[in-house]
Amino acid sequence: MTFKTGHQTGRIGIMAAMPEELQALLDVMPDESVERVAGREFWVGHLHGREVVAVLSRIGKVAAATTTTMLLSHYGVDQIIFTGVAGGLGDGVRVGDVVVADALVQHDMDASPLFPRFELPGLGVSTLSPPAAFTTMVRDTVAQVLSPAALASGGALADVHLASLNLGLPQVHQGLIISGDQFINAAQTCRELTQALPAALAVEMEGAAVAQVCHDFGVPYAVIRTISDRADDDAHIDFPRFIHAVARHYSLAIVEALLQRG
Ligand code: ADE
Repeated sequence: MTFKTGHQTGRIGIMAAMPEELQALLDVMPDESVERVAGREFWVGHLHGREVVAVLSRIGKVAAATTTTMLLSHYGVDQIIFTGVAGGLGDGVRVGDVVVADALVQHDMDASPLFPRFELPGLGVSTLSPPAAFTTMVRDTVAQVLSPAALASGGALADVHLASLNLGLPQVHQGLIISGDQFINAAQTCRELTQALPAALAVEMEGAAVAQVCHDFGVPYAVIRTISDRADDDAHIDFPRFIHAVARHYSLAIVEALLQRG
């Protein structure tokens, strides 16, 4: 796949998975105005001198694919940054950590026996990856934003109180994120997923769909997920509290740093 180059100066699409994340971003966009298209609200404006179109992804693969298609074909963005939360699957991927995808798989894609399990019919692959250099830049930026020094200095993350939430310092992971139209909240399902896809670090419901659309359009993208739960039997309990206390702050700090980085 050849990705377009020269994306540094163009419009950036920001997809937020949760309303709280989108609101945190809109609160710091000085000139945003809303346009309603395809049943969605697209917020067009500037942040840190960059042209931005921000939108709620909506939940699930089809909804996220439609939102992505609108950003690319209607708004002509030339890169997409997706932020949200995910369930941790990989060993050592803990609540409060952040995973940057360098590969994405739709874990519920199964057209066997016509095609191997997970393979995307027509594409001949099961895994899609954003451009490696783009992923490295994003991973390095996230690591800088969430470094112990940056966290200790307060700044954009002054409202995150890790100790009172029983969380350690966030680790930044890079690797496989898997997506499917299912909120995973059972240890047995986690075991089945990791057996089938041992490299999976995190599971969510949109990233691999965003990847497929961006792949078709040849546009670079990043999927960045803060781990809100371990996708186990407690997943539904941890989720809303975590988004409010941690994820929306991480998401905003990361997006702002990426915009400033160019
Ligand atoms: N997003 C956040 N946690 C998730 C989970 N456990 N399963 C799917 N999507 C998620």
